[in-house]
Amino acid sequence: GWKMEDVLEEEVKVIRGMLGPENHVICALSGGVDSTVAATLVHKAIGDRLHCVFVDNGLLRYKERERVMETFEKDLHLPVTCVDATEQFLSKLKGVVDPERKRKIIGKEFICIFDAFAQDLEQKLGNRPAYLVQGTLYPDVIESCPPPGSGRTHSHTIKSHHNVGGLPKDMKLKLIEPLKLLFKDEVRELGRILNVPVGFLKRHPFPGPGLAVRVLGDVTEGNALDILREVDEIFIQSIKNAGIYDSIWQAFAVFLPIRSVGVQGDQRTHSHVVALRAVTSQDGMTADWFNFDHKFLDDVARKICNSVRGVNRVVQDITSKPPSTIEWE
Ligand code: XMP
Repeated sequence: GWKMEDVLEEEVKVIRGMLGPENHVICALSGGVDSTVAATLVHKAIGDRLHCVFVDNGLLRYKERERVMETFEKDLHLPVTCVDATEQFLSKLKGVVDPERKRKIIGKEFICIFDAFAQDLEQKLGNRPAYLVQGTLYPDVIESCPPPGSGRTHSHTIKSHHNVGGLPKDMKLKLIEPLKLLFKDEVRELGRILNVPVGFLKRHPFPGPGLAVRVLGDVTEGNALDILREVDEIFIQSIKNAGIYDSIWQAFAVFLPIRSVGVQGDQRTHSHVVALRAVTSQDGMTADWFNFDHKFLDDVARKICNSVRGVNRVVQDITSKPPSTIEWE
């Protein structure tokens, strides 16, 4: 392993050398550990020439936007602009059911927004930002395109991660990916050195395409996104209350585009099914499903059906990776 103090010092040097004294930089904050640590690192290297943007794509978790904006501003003092692009994303995703198409559409919209943000900055600064920071990790790189000599080979792309490859050829921004040789635990260690709050560093990973890969099928259908947000919040808060959040790599709910028959009160219902998934993992490359105790699962399932309108059945995902991936799409 590397010493993170050395990695930090080296990265700061590399970024300063790469940029020169005039260039401005944009950082796309997702609200996750990776982009936050990447931004804090770049902020340390170049200070006010960093300009962060947080995009609400309408695919975020319950109160996520309010929660992360507070952390960025109050705890980290990062300069962040919040862009509400909910309509822009959801209108493009209407009717789309293919998982890879969803990812491609979302990745493309993100780039459009960053480009527009860069143009706005150019107006203000009289100097167009030349770089875009991304919190890409080593596992993202090797899953999408294994580097030569890594000893890993994939005969095909498993998934197109929105933050690796696939960028339009005419994109005017160059990439800075200061974490691209690091694993998750190393990023958390780097974050600690950079004084990112420990509670924030322990946040579970969340995919760039957001709830779009957790609502199977058309994400704009009915109120799937709102239902999923409520179910997910109950699940996560229950995990936190049980004191097991830090023992889990990632936990979340999935909305299934099917209905099943149930009985609530003396009413027959025909409502939605949600799945709960929680896994342990070292780096996201492989994962084991997390074994909750019976009482925990019973309480969560009851709470979900009692308080989320439109849900009458809760199932648990008991597959590991492989053969499943962590996300369902
Ligand atoms: P999978 O589902 O491939 O996920 O086993 C492995 C880890 O990567 C996250 N993930 C993504 N992260 N953009 C991201 O930034 C993506 O498109 C994406 N897809 C999956 C996933 O949440 C898990 O932590």
